[in-house]
Amino acid sequence: MKQSVKLIAGNWKMNGLGASLGEARALSEALAAEPAACRVALCLPATLVHRLAEAVAGGVVEVGGQDCHAEASGAFTGSTSAAMLADAGATLVILGHSERRAGFGESDADVAAKVEAALAAGLEPIICVGETLDQRQAGEAVVVVSAQVAGSLPSSLSGKAFAVAYEPVWAIGTGLTPTLEQIEEVHAAVRAAMIGRLGEGGRIAPILYGGSVKPSNAAEILAVAEVGGALVGGASLKAADFLGIIRAA
Ligand code: PGA
Repeated sequence: MKQSVKLIAGNWKMNGLGASLGEARALSEALAAEPAACRVALCLPATLVHRLAEAVAGGVVEVGGQDCHAEASGAFTGSTSAAMLADAGATLVILGHSERRAGFGESDADVAAKVEAALAAGLEPIICVGETLDQRQAGEAVVVVSAQVAGSLPSSLSGKAFAVAYEPVWAIGTGLTPTLEQIEEVHAAVRAAMIGRLGEGGRIAPILYGGSVKPSNAAEILAVAEVGGALVGGASLKAADFLGIIRAA
């Protein structure tokens, strides 16, 4: 099956001040000196998106946000619209991260509405899915994740640039990772659910793996069938660590 180029995306979560952009500049300079074999993105807090875009302008590092509102504008104090992220220089946005689903009550329908908003603003959404430890232990991982894909991907995604990220909740920030067989099994199910939802339009978009990816495990994870890249939290904060993952792709 034809695969698109791998995407390695960093998710700084609620970390980073202006001074942290030195890491982004170091990353950009390292990739200018020695090009990556993959796409590289950094998804930063909204306050840093514009400064990141300026800091990496002219380089290969792509700029992303971590969430957007489903509405284009209006009385939503504290929220950021997709068009605002795009205006600040973002070309991607993470949507439906498990920390948003669990901490902010985002449903699959909420995520799908945000995906529509992102597409309308010309952003490439990275749509996150993943089971909890209880669901994994109950043998429900594939069922849960397939349902999240079906519910979180609007049909308008067909033909658009996007990615799905499989992030087992229990692997995020814990140092734990699924076995390579478990990753392969869920990624195959995600692909099937994408095709079920979007038809041919679900065949090409990369499926990223996320959850405790680090330089020491990146190569073996990225070699698994249907792993089209990685969504990286903690190990994306330092350029040296993130480069170790990028060089494994
Ligand atoms: P982690 O986070 O790499 O720190 O486990 C991944 C994520 O939440 O996207």
